[in-house]
Amino acid sequence: MKESPEADPSEKIETSKQERQPVVDEDRRGFLGSAAVASMLGGLAVGYGAFASHAIRFLYPANVGESIWQFVCTLDQLKINESMPFTMPSGAKIVVARQAEGETADAFIALSSICPHLGCKVHWEAANDRFFCPCHNGAFDAQGAPTEGPPASANQYLMRYPLSVDRNLLLIEVPVDAVNVSNAGETA
Ligand code: FES
Repeated sequence: MKESPEADPSEKIETSKQERQPVVDEDRRGFLGSAAVASMLGGLAVGYGAFASHAIRFLYPANVGESIWQFVCTLDQLKINESMPFTMPSGAKIVVARQAEGETADAFIALSSICPHLGCKVHWEAANDRFFCPCHNGAFDAQGAPTEGPPASANQYLMRYPLSVDRNLLLIEVPVDAVNVSNAGETA
């Protein structure tokens, strides 16, 4: 009996393989397409998530206006008319001085050691009972009020920082956000 070409089994297998091939390619394409879409959506979610996080932190910053008390020195470390430098977590330079005997914060003062005129460094002159800025002969009294030079003309005071005493410890008030910035810088 003569077999028709369609009856050849090997041809059927070949035909069958050729017919199946596009199905496999389409499955792969579908999978790759899904993976690309998932990857893109994941990237968008991460990107928008980070943006939303920054936006929320910008709009609702934590601990705004809150402060903590930070150790400066023990009371007996500063004798009357002595001063010491102190650096705030924000980097602000301060001078802390004892102006009277006593165990209360009123005996001390903490003032910025940066001149409000053009930013030079002021220093305490115990003999003249004043803070002096050598850049333009600016001067301030013991409470940080301007008395001479450009700061006096512009009525520019040295910035004053609150102090407190806890047992034998002199403490200074520090904004919490300055502490957070400082810690972030240390861990970076
Ligand atoms: S910078 Fe202090 S007086 Fe000018």
